[in-house]
Amino acid sequence: MYKIAVLISGGGTNLQSIIDSINNKYLENCSIEYVISDKVGAFGIERAKNNNIKTYELDKKQYKDSLSDKILEIIDGKVDLLVLAGYLSILKGDLLKKFKDRIINIHPSLIPAFCGNGMYGLKVHEKALEYGVKVTGCTVHFVDEGTDTGSIIIQKAVKVEDDDTPESLQKRVLVEEHKALPEAIKLLSEGKISFKGRRVVGEQ
Ligand code: GRF
Repeated sequence: MYKIAVLISGGGTNLQSIIDSINNKYLENCSIEYVISDKVGAFGIERAKNNNIKTYELDKKQYKDSLSDKILEIIDGKVDLLVLAGYLSILKGDLLKKFKDRIINIHPSLIPAFCGNGMYGLKVHEKALEYGVKVTGCTVHFVDEGTDTGSIIIQKAVKVEDDDTPESLQKRVLVEEHKALPEAIKLLSEGKISFKGRRVVGEQ
């Protein structure tokens, strides 16, 4: 069984896409062992509880710099993959070392555009519209010491419409996120990912 832990900070629609993909057998050999939130009361915790998944609510204001270490304490030796799904705290320390190439994140733009420190949520789409890009989308990438700088696994493009608002664009990108994240997990769980330097190659 390919065991997963999912980190969340909010509503957890990306978490839900993984839960649904397991329940509909798209992710056949996968299980979510833990859902961990850095925000007490995040709705994603409810989603996990509704699916009998063990949850931890680690208030980032309480754990501060020890948050990554606490996450490692919970998952070390227990899961194969750590998935950041709408998670807003920065990971650091031993967690990044022990889970090298086993942590992935979903970002709502085509990295390297509109990413990096402070670029999350609606702001990403505001910047895309402000810049005037014709195509945006989402990226699933490995997490390294940087912010949104790890090797790219999957990207999905979304056409920007003339009458788009940040909210309408966010909605359409989220639909693609909910496809991209399970697809990336499936590739990893089936061992179909390899590297050519920084590039991720394998069956797409
Ligand atoms: C999503 O746009 C995701 O790309 C970003 O956080 C947003 C909220 O995700 N990382 P969710 O609905 O909490 O999964």
